[in-house]
Parts: sequence; C-alpha cells; structure tokens
Amino acid sequence: MEVHENSNFTRRKAIALFGWLSLLPLAGIWYSMVNRKQVREDQEISKLLLKDIPEGFSYHHDYLIRRKSGAIEVYSTKCTHLGCQLKLAENDRLICPCHGSEFNPEKGNALKGPAEKPLEKLNFIAETDYLTIFL
Ligand code: FES
Repeated sequence: MEVHENSNFTRRKAIALFGWLSLLPLAGIWYSMVNRKQVREDQEISKLLLKDIPEGFSYHHDYLIRRKSGAIEVYSTKCTHLGCQLKLAENDRLICPCHGSEFNPEKGNALKGPAEKPLEKLNFIAETDYLTIFL
C-alpha cells in the first residue's frame, strides 16, 4: 500500500509555523512595555488652583498659562528647536539659552530663530476650582 502526502503542509512547515507563533508572546511583552511608558508620560500632571492663575500670561517653569477673558491656553516651555528649557526674560520674552530663539509668551509664536514652530500647546482640564495640566 502506498501512502501519498496530498498536502503541501509538511512537518518542516509546521515546525517553522510553530517557531513564528512562539514569538507572539515576546511581541505582546514588547507592546505592553512601550504602551506602559506612554501611559506614564501622559499621567505626569500639574494641578493648580484656578483662582491663583492671573489674567494675562504666567510662567510656571515647565509650562506657560495664558488666561484672557476667562479663556485659558497652556503651552510647554520647551524650545521647539531642540527642546531646551525656556527662561522668562525681563523683557517678557521666553528666551532659549541653547541657541538664542525667542518666543512671544502672549501668543506662543517664535520671534527669533533658529526655532520656527510656535510653542506646543498642552492638554488640560479646567474643573470647578482646579486646572489640571498634562505635561
Ligand atoms: Fe532652543 Fe535651539 S534648542 S534655539
């Protein structure tokens, strides 16, 4: 009696498939590690009392708040050129100590290069008494 394999699915292919499938848990572990880091970054928050935020702009080292007629905008104080921490100068401009860019704190736009992009807007939640900023 002759036995014919009538399938293209051989033992060798089955072993190769099993090998590839065994990598799936590693991919899952890698994905959860990357995802966990993202969640941690999103959860870095700062909470302020709304009554302590003045009209106009206020500099808070990691962020800048602009409050005008009740409307609030929050900007990062990281330079949009290469990410250095901006300082508030006496002339009410945000100055980058790394390469000299300057930003207008009223609008967030770049006044002097090499930075060209405006300051990054940050997400926040305004509740009854508090402003929660996601850094
Ligand atoms: Fe600010 Fe380069 S990092 S100007």
